[in-house]
Amino acid sequence: MRFKKPLDVLLKEANASGEGSLKRTLTSFNLVTLGVGAIIGAGLFSLTGLAAANNAGSAVTISFIIGAIGCAFAGLCYAEFASMIPIAGSAYTYSYATMGEFMAWIIGWDLVLEYALGAATVSISWSQYLIKFLHSFDITIPPQFTMSPWETVTLADGTLVNGMINLPAVFIIVCLSLLLIRGTQESAFINNVLVILKVAVVLVFIAVGWGYINPANHTPYIPENTGKFGEFGWSGVLRGAGVVFFAFIGFDAVSTAAQEAKNPKTGMPIGIIGSLLVCTILYVLFSHVMTGVANYKEFKDSAAPVAVAIAKTPYAWLQKAIIVAILAGYTSVILVMLMGQSRIFYTMSKDGLVPKTFASLHKKFQTPYKSNLLFAVFVSLFAAFVPVRVVGEMVSIGTLFAFVLVCIGVLVIRKAEPNIPRPFKTPWVPFVPIMGVIICVIMMLALPADTWIRLGVWMLLGLVIYYTYGVKHSVIRNRKAAEAIDPPVTPLTKD
Ligand code: ALA
Repeated sequence: MRFKKPLDVLLKEANASGEGSLKRTLTSFNLVTLGVGAIIGAGLFSLTGLAAANNAGSAVTISFIIGAIGCAFAGLCYAEFASMIPIAGSAYTYSYATMGEFMAWIIGWDLVLEYALGAATVSISWSQYLIKFLHSFDITIPPQFTMSPWETVTLADGTLVNGMINLPAVFIIVCLSLLLIRGTQESAFINNVLVILKVAVVLVFIAVGWGYINPANHTPYIPENTGKFGEFGWSGVLRGAGVVFFAFIGFDAVSTAAQEAKNPKTGMPIGIIGSLLVCTILYVLFSHVMTGVANYKEFKDSAAPVAVAIAKTPYAWLQKAIIVAILAGYTSVILVMLMGQSRIFYTMSKDGLVPKTFASLHKKFQTPYKSNLLFAVFVSLFAAFVPVRVVGEMVSIGTLFAFVLVCIGVLVIRKAEPNIPRPFKTPWVPFVPIMGVIICVIMMLALPADTWIRLGVWMLLGLVIYYTYGVKHSVIRNRKAAEAIDPPVTPLTKD
């Protein structure tokens, strides 16, 4: 038997207010900035250079466009669901309504990879930029406290140092979790400030750099393939799209704030598609300038490609400001990811699939504070002890898997519930969802085998928890079981 959450119940939950409910405080503008806050981060400031140097050359701009098209297919499907079922659980809730509880659990569990590990990944990059920033003031944190135990670094005097723990990454996770506990509105305000700052720096970089583009750096725009798939040429542009996919992760985080949106029906599509569009335009311009100011080959092995490009202009003093903005940018990504994670578990907890603790709201701040605290610990463990590549690839595979299920979900619900009001409709169904599935699966297949194994282990753990806890505590199952023993006697009445 399939346990689905009836749509009318979901909509009632979404419209509930009062104690125990999240507050509706976010405007459409807040939602776009929330999206941009989650999107622009390590992908733009670190991966653009790597994708240009190793895969696409200046044509990393085309990689961004391909990545954006792939995300847009999934984004349109998200927008339909988020406006139709404006509830905090995002893809988890959509699956509950369309494919049943089991698939909902799978997706909810999978989303931990996107949100919690996404926050961990960006916090590790944050820590690398912080070290760079402190360095410019001659402040050095002992390297063993800035890396996971799996990493080493060779110091200037030749000594090899083993990492122990990444303390700056833990620091930022803990600070932002505390901010989230303080309140969604406060967090949204700080997020707005951070987003404005990082967008401003992206714009300044584009404006200042434009005049220093050397056309020779853009010739040829697509460097010739080396003979290996993925190393320049069109195959390189495609592989580059897979690399920069990380830069788009986060637009779906808007949907996790559906229950806190003032007007989710219009706010959700505007937030999701708007943030995706804004970021795509900025990414293309930014990468065009970056690979025009410096040659793509110069970005090889550089964790801070922006600094390489800035050094080519007479505005070297911009370096520090740029690093501050990058830190701010990463901070907003982590903030939104942490918020999204707690909101998904909030919804899962209301459904009885994870313990009630995750839904208990702070009396004064009305935020899921226990969930925030538990995830602060969980995310910190990854940030402290796992290398960035491992968590980063887990984020990509988890996110792509979620996108696939959301696209399939749109096809299912169009058939199952054709008449339900849809404030936003995905255009060209079934073409858009099918293309979304195909592109995401191709990108998943491009990820290394060990990432698939880790995904398998994570999902297996999820199944164990589902069958030992979720099945027993599921609200829907218990309600159905109670009705089977003691059917409701009240006759059905018309409204
Ligand atoms: N899109 C986010 C970033 O690039 C995850 O950091």
